[in-house]
Parts: sequence; C-alpha cells; structure tokens
Amino acid sequence: LPRPVPAGTRVVLGHRGAPSLAPENTLASIRRAARAGASWVEIDVDVIGDGTPVVIHDSTLDRTTDRTGPYYALSREDLEGIDAGAWFIAEDGSRPYAGEPLPTLGQALGVIAAEGLSVNVEIKPCEAGARACADLVDAVAEHLDRLASCAPSSQVVVSSFNPLLLERMARRRPATRLALLMEAGMPVGDWRSRAEMLGVEAVNPADEGLERALVEEIRALGYGVNVWTVNSPERAEELFSWGASGIFTDRIHELGRLVTEM
Ligand code: G3P
Ligand code: MG
Repeated sequence: LPRPVPAGTRVVLGHRGAPSLAPENTLASIRRAARAGASWVEIDVDVIGDGTPVVIHDSTLDRTTDRTGPYYALSREDLEGIDAGAWFIAEDGSRPYAGEPLPTLGQALGVIAAEGLSVNVEIKPCEAGARACADLVDAVAEHLDRLASCAPSSQVVVSSFNPLLLERMARRRPATRLALLMEAGMPVGDWRSRAEMLGVEAVNPADEGLERALVEEIRALGYGVNVWTVNSPERAEELFSWGASGIFTDRIHELGRLVTEM
C-alpha cells in the first residue's frame, strides 16, 4: 500500500499547464507553468487512432483546436496540421499561440523533463473502445518508464475518473503512484472501496460543494486530497486548513506561492 501523504503537505498543480496564460494542455502551457514557478503540472491524456497518446481534455477537437469532431481515428501524421493554440486569446486581444501543436504525450513529457517538472497524468475516460483504452494505459506506462530513466527527479502521479484504467496501470506498472478522481456527487461508499482496491495514494474531489467533513474523512484514512479546480487563494487556504494536501489551479502564477512542501 502507498505511504500515507503526510499532514501539512501542500502541493499546487498547474491544471492543464498554465491555462490562463497559454492554451491548455499545450507545450507552451507547460513551459509557462514552469516559468511561473510551478513544480507540478497536470495534463489530460487520450488516444488517437494509431495508438499514440495525445494531450487533450475533450473527446473532440472542437473547443481547443482549429478542427472539429473526434480524434479517435486520426494518425500521428494527421496531428501535424492541427493548430491547438489559435483559439486562445490573450488579454490584449492577440493570438500569440497560433500554430501551437496538439502535443503527443511523448512531446509533453519531453518538455516536463527539460523543465524539471513533476507531472500528474490524467487518463481521460477514453471513448475509443475497451481495447484501445487498455492499449492507451500500456502506452502511458511505457512513456513513464522512459521519463523515469531520463528525468529520475520528476515525480509522477497517474489519475483517472475511470477505476478500470487505474487498475490496469497498477497491474502493468505496479510502482506507479495513483490518484482516483471523484466525480462531484459520487456516493461516499464508492470512493472508499475503489481507493482501497486500487491502492491509490490520493482521492481527488471536485471543489464544487466540497465540505470539510469529506476532506477530513479521506485524510483520516491516509489518502491525499487534491482538489480541482481552485482559483481563489482564500478558498485554497481554507481547503489546506481542512487538511487538503493539494489543489489544481488554472492560476498557477498566483496560487503557486501557496506551496509549502512537496
Ligand atoms: O485532475 C483534476 C481535473 O483535471 C479533473 O477534471 O475535467 O479538468 O480533467 P478535468
Ligand atoms: Mg484533468
């Protein structure tokens, strides 16, 4: 079983990089998070048709690229023409990230290694079918083996809302640190048995409607509690005072200073 997360731990993770400074889940977003002082970033990972893991949040290209539709049938060559940055409008109204690629997991981990960051890889629920999703987990595991050999000081946590994907990761790569994401409103009995069965180190609830009692209950069992997504410093302080061990934030440049311990 994983080591309990010590009391007083405060980890601040850049949610999808630094998405208020650069387009979420891009190499630029990871670099901006590093430049803003982040130690940890979270990235979302799903899979395209040829089995390549890619960094993207939604199950379609619509919101964060210049294309539309699902990407589950694309090949690596198809990624080359996709612009994952032009949609992002900076404060001055410009589009400074036009031409930013939709990154593969390999490219993202390359930047993470180069920047000396630690990473929470969230495996998305994956709508590519059971076989492709299982293969995605295996591909992520291989990437993490490579990262561990080229950047041994980068810490890695793998999270998912889908316990089956975490279970596969635990079998395929037993030393992987795991976190179970909790859907808002998930029945309380559910997380307990799932967390125990999977041997996760943290249970990560949504901030919406989150109450002190649940944070304390999860912490009392020794699990970390990393809350998503927290953009107000006051709320972050409140959560830490309840015992939360971490937060995911869109505003790493403002909330990153709340870190006290890794
Ligand atoms: O991992 C925390 C958070 O990223 C989970 O939700 O939808 O932002 O990926 P989502
Ligand atoms: Mg996520």
